[in-house]
Amino acid sequence: MSFTVSRRIENLHPSDIRLMTKACERVGGINLGQGLGDLPVPALVREAAIQAIQDGQNTYTASEGIAPLRQAIARKLKRDNGLAVDADAEIVISAGTTGAFAATLAALFNPGDGVLLLEPYYGYHLNTLLLQGLEPQFLTLAPPAFSLEESALEAAVKPNTRALVLCTPSNPSGKIFSSEELAIVERIARKHNLLVISDEIYEYITYDGRRHISPASIPGLAERTVSIMGFSKTFSITGWRLGYAVAKPDLTKAINLVNDLLYVCAPSPLQHGVAAGLNAPSDYFEKLRNEYQRKRDIICDGLAAAGMAPFIPQGAYYVLADIAHFGYPDAKTAALALLEQTGVASVPGSAFYQGREGEGLVRFCFAKDDQTLHEAVRRLGKFRPA
Ligand SMILES: Cc1ncc(COP(=O)(O)O)c(C=O)c1O
Repeated sequence: MSFTVSRRIENLHPSDIRLMTKACERVGGINLGQGLGDLPVPALVREAAIQAIQDGQNTYTASEGIAPLRQAIARKLKRDNGLAVDADAEIVISAGTTGAFAATLAALFNPGDGVLLLEPYYGYHLNTLLLQGLEPQFLTLAPPAFSLEESALEAAVKPNTRALVLCTPSNPSGKIFSSEELAIVERIARKHNLLVISDEIYEYITYDGRRHISPASIPGLAERTVSIMGFSKTFSITGWRLGYAVAKPDLTKAINLVNDLLYVCAPSPLQHGVAAGLNAPSDYFEKLRNEYQRKRDIICDGLAAAGMAPFIPQGAYYVLADIAHFGYPDAKTAALALLEQTGVASVPGSAFYQGREGEGLVRFCFAKDDQTLHEAVRRLGKFRPA
């Protein structure tokens, strides 16, 4: 007997991130490929989740999530994002940011609709679009600043374009979109009646005194933005699978309908854990920023010393490094050679682009303990030209 796979997944492949992780495990290397996040989970988040299990909070919740968490999110959105949001009608808690993104796409678009991604993009954004039969469209932003130009964005919009995905701070470039760039997004989105989907999972990981700006806080954008946020990175709980979408009530209702069908609800006791985390004293978020900034500096100094010029990230916990002059034919060959020669796994830049722009780049994740990072940096010096 033989069965075919669905046409929806025919052209989908596991990402090079998983491939590099496997290759890294084979050589017992240091994995700076995958974005796992090594920091400890804050005690108040852990304890509140454990308490919720002990208290019997183990059954399904409402598909949009428990009220105390939605209320804590609404307070946080006001405090940190400048957004006034109705906790009962404008928030859906989902199975991670990934779940919120998938539910949003399924709820708001039809097969064949175009969705614009900014390159370098986050691979899950692309593959989730493909899985749902949407047409990915691309606009490449050039290093080192990855600036968004109005004329380029205008030119990238096609007749079937329905939405633009923003990732700020961005994985993999670390770019934080400025209020001027977001004003460009507003003008083009208004002109072409586009929805904006903003993945803000790294909102609390920002450097050099820069602050994250939520696209929905830009005048005119709240009405047409689905803000997608999560807890994986803020509380180092990537395995808990908790994120949420924030949008106007009619959009939220549709997203919640799909969220129910796909996931029923987010993990019940863990919702109580993150609700407690959102009430953490503000110095928690300050410490998080400082800690990642120290790690960013360790890796960027090490990359520069090893001749792999880093594009210094403004936020998130990844850095793209320029390895073009090492002379490897493509980024995958370079990343595999780097792993073989140094025992450090990275992700080939080609994983973030459609064209050849990523072939001279590799991405490192620096969400690792300092000792591991120092050891990785020491080893990077062994990387040799092809
Ligand atoms: C840009 C971006 N969005 C979403 C995710 C996944 O988020 P979650 O764990 O909330 O599904 C990641 C994880 O690496 C990411 O980099």
